[in-house]
Amino acid sequence: MIRKIYEWFLHPIARAVYKRYPGLYWWRRGQSYYNNRVLLPWERRAREDIARKVLSWHPSRVLEYGVGNGQLLKRVSEGDPALECHGVDISATQMKKASLLAPNARLSVSNITKLEYPDDYFDVVYGISVLMYIPQEKREQAFKELYRVCRGYLVAYELVPKYYDDAARKRYCEATDFRYDYDYEESLKQAGFEIVEVIKDPHSWSDYVIKEGALPFGLIIARKHKDKGSNGGGISAVVVERLSDRNDLLCL
Ligand SMILES: C[S@@+](CC[C@H](N)C(=O)[O-])C[C@H]1O[C@@H](n2cnc3c(N)ncnc32)[C@H](O)[C@@H]1O
Repeated sequence: MIRKIYEWFLHPIARAVYKRYPGLYWWRRGQSYYNNRVLLPWERRAREDIARKVLSWHPSRVLEYGVGNGQLLKRVSEGDPALECHGVDISATQMKKASLLAPNARLSVSNITKLEYPDDYFDVVYGISVLMYIPQEKREQAFKELYRVCRGYLVAYELVPKYYDDAARKRYCEATDFRYDYDYEESLKQAGFEIVEVIKDPHSWSDYVIKEGALPFGLIIARKHKDKGSNGGGISAVVVERLSDRNDLLCL
């Protein structure tokens, strides 16, 4: 009975409230199992790869957007103790955990639609499973901000619905966590980024993971466009050369 009341009455109200105030949803979720969840082996390996990718460019200052409980931030900051690591998230509860996992990182509870950093501040801007949660009305502003603060590369690891068959796409769209199905590459391009590479993540794009019921991820690498008023990437030219040397990941 209580379950029915929740499903028919409270759930739609909760959804409407969370849709209007997504920070509240992530704040609540940050108090639940989600914060203490142990990563599955493929999730761990994917994060290790992304951290290696970010560090391979030898950046001096990086920003992780939507750090959540900090599992990736921890790997990036431990990978290079001299690196200035920053992280933002709208959820204070998740950031609390991130501050324990990555104590040297500079964290700020904020929305990616309004970042308190100067233009061209970060060599690399990166995130996991965050862009999928940006609703249409906020999207342009969010991507503009990521572009503004970035001076080199952007790495986005996201569920990419355009690679899914109908059944997987349906599962993606019917999830209860406010995901949106849109073209990340197009949004990045509109903000001024140049798409360098799009890859199906080999760790998640496996029969095993898909059979387990998880949706596989894609990795997008973009670069600040050289002609759009910045220096087009403050990282050295070595970075550009390394982009062609990517044996570790499968290309589409
Ligand atoms: C699925 S979780 C992923 C967390 C983390 N990146 C990870 O891989 O475990 C999505 C995260 O994005 C954050 N988030 C969602 N919308 C955001 C926004 N507009 N600005 C900043 N963070 C946001 C949420 O608070 C949450 O921590």
